[in-house]
Amino acid sequence: MKSILQQQLVRKGTNSVKWDGLERWFHLSEDVLPLWVADIDIRTAPSISEALASTAAQGEFGYTLFAREAQEAVRSWYDRRHDLNVDPKHIMFSSGVVPALTHIVEALTEVGDGVVIQSPVYPPFHELVVGSKRQVFDAPLTEKNGRYEMDFFALEEAMKQASLFLLCSPHNPVGRVWTKAELTKVVELANQYDVIVVADEIHADLTFPSHKHTAIGSLDPRVITVSAPSKAFNIAGLFASYIICTVDDWRKQIIKVQNKHHVLPTPFANTAIIAAYTDRRAERWLDQLREELEQQMNEVIDSIETNLPMLHTTRPEASYLLWIDFSELPMTAEERKSWLHGDVRVFLSPGGPFGPHGEMFERMNIGTRRELLDEAIARLHVQMKRKAFV
Ligand SMILES: Cc1ncc(COP(=O)(O)O)c(C=O)c1O
Repeated sequence: MKSILQQQLVRKGTNSVKWDGLERWFHLSEDVLPLWVADIDIRTAPSISEALASTAAQGEFGYTLFAREAQEAVRSWYDRRHDLNVDPKHIMFSSGVVPALTHIVEALTEVGDGVVIQSPVYPPFHELVVGSKRQVFDAPLTEKNGRYEMDFFALEEAMKQASLFLLCSPHNPVGRVWTKAELTKVVELANQYDVIVVADEIHADLTFPSHKHTAIGSLDPRVITVSAPSKAFNIAGLFASYIICTVDDWRKQIIKVQNKHHVLPTPFANTAIIAAYTDRRAERWLDQLREELEQQMNEVIDSIETNLPMLHTTRPEASYLLWIDFSELPMTAEERKSWLHGDVRVFLSPGGPFGPHGEMFERMNIGTRRELLDEAIARLHVQMKRKAFV
């Protein structure tokens, strides 16, 4: 089968945040390689494009409800792929995972309440809590023998002071696929301290074939799950996401907040969810993509270990994000930024916004053609040599 990742796709000039945002937002020149925002430089599954074209051909784009077929598609997907039984009536639409998390926090907590996160973590987790005037209780992950783990002591201390926990599962940026044992401990603690668990599973469908994602909702039905086909099928620009919430009263409160924000799907969001989750051609496409991502991730890490020995990574178990430790380079985060953009000419996601110890890290998105990644590593190698770092 033809590789998904290695096919050429020109995104520059398409108003892509990742490609065109570099010039528009940061005034960087054309030759800087964009390995940052979390989408991939590939076309989505052809069967999804076909379904969207057919929706477009109908020419009916009025205000749209969340399709019952889309709810049923999510139900069947979680049943087939994640051994989780979901009642379609418990599945609500959201125009994005971050908006869903924000609306849930607003609906189920009060101003001043505590919300637990585990840094380093996807920056909006911190931003949405602070932006909603809730308090962040961080229970940082710890790194042991090249693998990030939950610090259950810190988690318990944080939960004692909080009413809600934003869990990232699998975890962005460290790439951990939490084990059933770890997640069991999470729900035990949450029940003990009466904390609502909200699990962001947006990366779950990109779990590498050598690992197994556990839907935390299968361990405790009161967990609220937020997810989307957006990462797995590379359709983030369609804003097609959903919330699974079994508790009637919580759903009512979330809907109240959503109504305030006019949350409705576009016709394309409905179509995308149905096509991604029910067409077996899309499912086969995804399975091939997961294999290719795991292989490419391992090759990139090997190449970094060989060519850039001052950089350190842990091995992700899902998705296409690689958390790289730059702390051995004798530079501040500010100096590194101008070196990366000006000399190396590679744009990574700076680690500072991911949490207190993030600033000596960068996150690399490996979801692109191998050639570009090789070029990025070669550029880093040359510039490190110039500075006598390698
Ligand atoms: C963990 C996580 N949650 C949410 C999002 C964004 O989701 P959305 O674009 O649907 O708001 C991302 C994107 O990188 C992510 O990594």
